[in-house]
Amino acid sequence: MRVLGIETSCDETGVALHETGRGIVAEALASQTAVHAPFGGVVPELASRDHIAKLCPMVRHVLAEAKVTPAELDAIAYTAGPGLVGALMVGGAFAASMAYGLNIPAVPAHHMEGHLLASRLEPDPPEFPFLALLVSGGHTQLVHVAGLGRYRIIGETLDDAAGEAFDKVARLLSLPYPGGPALAALAESGDPGRFAFPRPLRGQGLDFSFSGLKTAVRLAIDAEQAAGRLSDRVRADIAASFEAAVVETLADKCRRALGSTGLGRLVVAGGVGANRKLRATLEALGRGEGFDVRYPRPALCTDNGAMIAYAGACRVAEGIAEVAPRIVARPRWSLEELGPPEPAEARSRREIGAAVEAH
Ligand code: KG4
Ligand code: ZN
Repeated sequence: MRVLGIETSCDETGVALHETGRGIVAEALASQTAVHAPFGGVVPELASRDHIAKLCPMVRHVLAEAKVTPAELDAIAYTAGPGLVGALMVGGAFAASMAYGLNIPAVPAHHMEGHLLASRLEPDPPEFPFLALLVSGGHTQLVHVAGLGRYRIIGETLDDAAGEAFDKVARLLSLPYPGGPALAALAESGDPGRFAFPRPLRGQGLDFSFSGLKTAVRLAIDAEQAAGRLSDRVRADIAASFEAAVVETLADKCRRALGSTGLGRLVVAGGVGANRKLRATLEALGRGEGFDVRYPRPALCTDNGAMIAYAGACRVAEGIAEVAPRIVARPRWSLEELGPPEPAEARSRREIGAAVEAH
């Protein structure tokens, strides 16, 4: 079975082809960094327009590289949410129209499910159940993953997401967009012990809070600037101290969540999962406490088409087989609303039941 995956939820256009038994056979990714950099952040309208310009040639390229014709596709999966509504509409309209023309299913995929399944694209994929740490630009969640679609959020951020905190602190340090990777690069040369930033909600429950930490960093930057000490060295120390506070907080919550659920495996997913310090810290924690830690290669942590092709393929394999003549775009969409894939027969029985009730 061949599933084309299309990701357009934010500032990356991703296209990939997944084939049963072979995995990802071709993929392409176009970053919009150059489009948004002059504005210091993502401009939603420009993101949508750039997805429109990129999608067609990228789909052609991926199919040509895989030596597959459109007629040989079995389904097209696209990111239906969460994300920027205009950007989602571009991918959804493209995928639903192409699928309709080919008379094959268009599968609305959940972006965060894509992230949390991405490590299963690696050799030696992690088995269910596991604890997922989802850390992206919009989400920071601890998810108890019992199986495909069986997700329970057991901890999440009360305010900023981890990636958002990285991006905001990067701006405070006048680093270029995209802020997270730039801040992590600056932190490499800094002293993580120089500034004692707070570890928010450490030792309490499984929720996160990063806005107070961001304020503490802003106050430190202001104080250093007022004292005429904001040198490159000090900026690197602030970056490293901030990164250490975030990483320690994430690691503390993972340890607590593994303890309270009894799960023995942690899977890290989402853009912040590309952070080297986070990966090294969680790995060391896993070795010390005896749990298995998995994360996909950095290119599968940040947004990509492969994870959407794969999430779609998993659902198609479990029995979703409808040609959806509608475009699904859900800017806000909780993982817990997803549910396991329902075989087509059961779903049509349920839908007939609902239609009968409606009359
Ligand atoms: O998953 P992702 O690519 O997009 C969303 O679904 O949001 O995550 C993007 C986030 C951004 O906030 C970015 O700054 C952050 O991930 N990020 C990083 C690193 N690479 C990406 N944060 C810290 N260190 C990194 N190396
Ligand atoms: Zn993402």
